[in-house]
Amino acid sequence: MKLKKAVIPVAGLGTRFLPATKAVPKELLPIIDIPSIQYVVQEAVDSGIQEIIFVTGRGKDAIEDHFDEAPELEQILAERGQTETVEMLRRIVAMTEVVSVRQKKPLGLGHAVLCARDLVGNEPFAVMLADDLIDNDVPCIRQLLEIFEEKQESVVALMEVPQEDVHRYGVIKGSEVKKRLYQVEATVEKPQASQAPSRMAIIGRYILRPEVFAILEKLPAGKGGEIQLTDGLAQLVRERKVFGCEFEGDRYDIGDKFGFVRATVAYALKRPDLKDRVIDYLKSTIQ
Ligand code: G1P
Repeated sequence: MKLKKAVIPVAGLGTRFLPATKAVPKELLPIIDIPSIQYVVQEAVDSGIQEIIFVTGRGKDAIEDHFDEAPELEQILAERGQTETVEMLRRIVAMTEVVSVRQKKPLGLGHAVLCARDLVGNEPFAVMLADDLIDNDVPCIRQLLEIFEEKQESVVALMEVPQEDVHRYGVIKGSEVKKRLYQVEATVEKPQASQAPSRMAIIGRYILRPEVFAILEKLPAGKGGEIQLTDGLAQLVRERKVFGCEFEGDRYDIGDKFGFVRATVAYALKRPDLKDRVIDYLKSTIQ
């Protein structure tokens, strides 16, 4: 079955980035001049996903506005002869179909995914977390999709992390069935380093079979008193096969301040209009 939809949870308050996120959704904070959420939507679109489902909350309407038409703005730009800018804005709107559902209470990532149940329907879907930017020629979610297309089972993105960082992630126990492909045997959300089953961390890209909804619906609160997607996966593993893909690409955790700075520098270095000046600047400041 072909996968058409991606769920992107965007209801989080973004408290780690206050005061920037007091009046602006964290997903709209730009990496240079592109709101971070647009990179994630672009990754989905480049991977052949046709519909984006935002799970939103109060104060997040501007995210939908970003992917909607802006006739007044376009008209002013057109009158000023800024046709290239108008076209650039139109391309963002034409990228994909966007729908949204509200998560009324911050009950956790598993709950956010469950909120999208009616919009997803009884079909496999992607989940993409907007705090994770992953840069690669073959988009990360496309790499997961290739495994899904072969196996028709759920797939999570994996990255080996240092032992001291495992407590920040969902972590798997699994066996490598071929290069970069794991069969997941168990998952645990944010374990202490001494209790982690491995150093293979789940990064914010998932392909999930719809059976996960029935699991999430019955799931008790886990770590932090929240309904955890990782706990849902732990149950899914008992019912069906789940695979892990050690993806190729550079991953930036932009929910973290240093990760945000790294992403800004890395994306600037990829931009022909900025690269040389950024290199010169960095060289001159570290001497
Ligand atoms: C979430 C998930 C966690 C996962 C991580 C990936 O945690 O709960 O399992 O490893 O995303 O970035 P968060 O970063 O939202 O605390």
